Amino acid sequence: MNGSSTNPLGNTAQRGHPETDPDAETVANPVVDHLKSKIAAAGHVSVAEFMQSALGDADGGYYTTRDPFGVAGDFTTAPEISQVFGELIGLWCADTWQAMGSPRAFALIELGPGRGTLMSDALRALRQVPACRAAASVHMVETSPVLREIQQQALQGENITWHSALPDLGRTPVIFLANEFLDALPVEQYVKHGDNWCERVVAHDPAHDRFCFAIDRSKRLPLGAITRQLAQAEEGTIFEFAPAVRDFVSDMAHHILLNSGAGLIVDYGYTQHATGQTLQAVRKHKPVDPLERPGDCDLTAHVDFQLVGDTAQNAGTKVWGPVDQGVFLQRLGILERANILLKRANVSQAHQLRTAVTRLIAPAEMGTLFKAMAISHKGLSSLAGFDSDS
Ligand SMILES: C[S@@+](CC[C@H](N)C(=O)[O-])C[C@H]1O[C@@H](n2cnc3c(N)ncnc32)[C@H](O)[C@@H]1O
Repeated sequence: MNGSSTNPLGNTAQRGHPETDPDAETVANPVVDHLKSKIAAAGHVSVAEFMQSALGDADGGYYTTRDPFGVAGDFTTAPEISQVFGELIGLWCADTWQAMGSPRAFALIELGPGRGTLMSDALRALRQVPACRAAASVHMVETSPVLREIQQQALQGENITWHSALPDLGRTPVIFLANEFLDALPVEQYVKHGDNWCERVVAHDPAHDRFCFAIDRSKRLPLGAITRQLAQAEEGTIFEFAPAVRDFVSDMAHHILLNSGAGLIVDYGYTQHATGQTLQAVRKHKPVDPLERPGDCDLTAHVDFQLVGDTAQNAGTKVWGPVDQGVFLQRLGILERANILLKRANVSQAHQLRTAVTRLIAPAEMGTLFKAMAISHKGLSSLAGFDSDS
């Protein structure tokens, strides 16, 4: 995607003209020195390595060291906007469990659970279907120690197992949930150069003591990944490729294929492979230069839903959607649920709820940029929120 686009905050992120962070010089994050050492040794790091260090470095990684959510943080996600989001996802799980033949035991696994808000709201809704709640063993996949602690507080009293990577749960049917998780996984970038796509990398400019983009002509996009659209692209065009997204989706799909189940992915992204760069950084709810403060701002890339769908399909699972988040939530009954809550709400609560629902479903806000996609075992013939002929 080229030019500006709406980011998860509902702001317009001006790519190429990011704001300069006002306190950019005041704090030295250890990530900066770690990256400089890697670059001194190797000449550069890939964009994926830069992103991985910025977000996951053991000493100063963005997610490793902080709670970034909410007004006081850097960005807000759908479950943090309204409890209705997580409740509807909980009911989606109950419906999916029934579509799976109501197995006596299944694993409910959330990837990248943030503050644990989505799971907390989903489990409350799931109690309305006691047999489903009783069948569910709940798992969270989270790499951040800080967020894991916040999740443990949010989910006190629930029996939950935490993992640092996708767990191998043996022969257990599964429901995966991934809201705004795939956008946090590292992407590689390639630039069209003649007939080739060479890797765009991050170097360090010692004269100005800052990170900068460079090209590594020795590393190329594999020939198999060069579609006709890429072959015809203009010189200098950028293409993002996300092997980490492909690998996560492939692992989820293989588990579903062997053991039955489904996975729900909600994220911002594009429905077909596209050229252009979408790497973006956000700090205090504003777009900033993605290379300026690694470790101190959120770094994401839009999700290539065609890569997700093709990967799941190639692994032998069925793909549903993507559908726009606004459509998906309305099919799950967001307006009806909001109307029930409005009957018990005072004036200020009613205003908050209406604002939140608009933010989640309006096309100008999160309603169309965010998409829902599901993958499932081929035996499932319908999934709530998706067309049966998906
Ligand atoms: C943008 S937040 C999404 C939070 C949550 N799903 C929500 O909707 O509020 C990304 C989450 O993924 C986690 N995360 C990032 N990379 C991860 C990885 N490789 N494995 C597991 N969790 C990861 C972060 O720590 C954080 O909890």
